[in-house]
Amino acid sequence: METSVTKFDTLAKVLHWLSAIVILWATFSGLFLVAVGGKSEWKLLISEFNVSLTTVFIPIFCVRIIHAARTARPCYQGELSAAQILCVRYVHITMYLLVMLLFISGLLMMRSEFQVFRLITIPPLIEQTQVSQFFSWVHQYVSYLLTALIILHVFAVIIHQRAGKKILQRMLW
Ligand code: HEM
Ligand code: HEM
Repeated sequence: METSVTKFDTLAKVLHWLSAIVILWATFSGLFLVAVGGKSEWKLLISEFNVSLTTVFIPIFCVRIIHAARTARPCYQGELSAAQILCVRYVHITMYLLVMLLFISGLLMMRSEFQVFRLITIPPLIEQTQVSQFFSWVHQYVSYLLTALIILHVFAVIIHQRAGKKILQRMLW
């Protein structure tokens, strides 16, 4: 659904940039922790912080998806072809789905109880180690896929901007 409006509304913009910060941080710090390997106090702290942050972020991202589904997207004013618009739409929907899959697999891969900012304790949702290992595998590969799509997403915005198309402005004030 598209309208004659040319920019996303304030709520969509706030939720997009908040999500971008949380997802970029969780993705790149998560990949970094795995790449560095080993165990130390600061890595444990980052890991605990990431689990808390992403868990708190789940309802916020759900609001984002509901808002996106319920509101009309701003029109491209002829800046993109019909095929490009369709392609962008599929990439965005896939990004939403992958983030949801990361939430589900992240929660289901936890083998022991964990704390959310030391305020709430969440027990393990899966008892069987093999099943939680499967979700850990899903989490890992889905995070790689999302990283690839985020890079594509940011590059697409840069390429359009350089071609004189005001795509970034749609998400800015
Ligand atoms: C925005 C959502 C999330 C993103 C983008 C994300 C991203 C990542 C990435 C990139 C990794 C490293 C993958 C690898 O190479 O093995 C990772 C690992 C991990 N994630 Fe997530 N994740 C998200 C949500 C969650 C949630 C909701 C939980 C659990 C409540 C969780 C728990 C973990 C754990 C325990 C690890 C293992 C490494 C560590 O201890 O930090 N993640 N995540
Ligand atoms: C610095 C990084 C980022 C920039 C510059 C950026 C920029 C943009 C821009 C300009 C749009 C509007 C595009 C259009 O209307 O065709 C957009 C939409 C979108 N972005 Fe990003 N983005 C960034 C990070 C992210 C991240 C990390 C995610 C992760 C999921 C993301 C997910 C989305 C989605 C799903 C939409 C579509 C919104 C909708 O129609 O519901 N973006 N982004």
